[in-house]
Amino acid sequence: MIKKGILSVVAVSFLAIGAYAADKVITPESLSLRKANIADESKVAPVDAKYTDKAPGQAKTIERSYENAPPLIPHSVEGLLPIKRGNNQCLGCHMPEAAKGVGATPIPESHFTDFRPKTELKDGKIIKDGKAVTNTTDVTIAKFKKLKKLNQARFNCSQCHVPQANVKPLVKNNFKPEFSDEKLKHKSDLIKVINQGVK
Ligand code: HEC
Ligand code: HEC
Repeated sequence: MIKKGILSVVAVSFLAIGAYAADKVITPESLSLRKANIADESKVAPVDAKYTDKAPGQAKTIERSYENAPPLIPHSVEGLLPIKRGNNQCLGCHMPEAAKGVGATPIPESHFTDFRPKTELKDGKIIKDGKAVTNTTDVTIAKFKKLKKLNQARFNCSQCHVPQANVKPLVKNNFKPEFSDEKLKHKSDLIKVINQGVK
């Protein structure tokens, strides 16, 4: 009697799984995040992304995505992008000498620093900062060269700093950053901790 009972429970479960699986047929539509046939691009339209229209000075800074992440641009970038060789309007407000006056976060010290080791090839050997090495990516204490000017490797701000639009992510992100200090939710200290964990 008991055995029969278990058997019927098992049978019912199989039926239920069968019905569930039949429901979960993979189709070209179900594979697609935009819920359209993935093989058909005729109806592909960009999402209606609305970027913030708050002018610089009217926006509120956004919490950093993680400690020392490049901050997101909270204000409108209308008319500011693209950055061109002879036209980078970001500098007008964010260079340290201008930032205070307009209430903008000044460009940090890390952007006025050259972290790249002087690397050259001599007699078939790689010489990094005067020493022969086998691998140019060997982890060594970062030696910085403080520059008088913005490091030109940082000229293209929007390569790392991006504005935000009110679109729903298609895939939920469960990442939750942990900050070693609450203050670092709205500012960075990278230059102080750059050699952390390196002997
Ligand atoms: C007219 C002045 C002005 C210009 C031009 C400007 N900004 Fe800003 N920026 C600000 C101000 C002021 C803030 C502070 C938030 C606010 O009040 O809108 C800010 C905030 C930011 C932040 C957030 C900083 C933080 O601590 O979270 C980033 C990143 C940023 N701007 C990047 C840029 C980039 C990149 C450009 C060029 C595309 C740019 N800004 C152009 C004035 C400006
Ligand atoms: C290669 C990527 C990269 C580029 C290019 C870049 N940044 Fe950053 N930026 C970062 C990162 C990463 C941080 C946070 C860590 C740090 O301070 O270096 C940061 C931090 C900042 C901050 C916050 C400083 C603070 O004290 O909290 C500002 C403001 C900023 N950048 C502005 C700019 C502007 C303006 C430009 C263009 C002239 C620019 N950045 C170019 C990566 C970049």
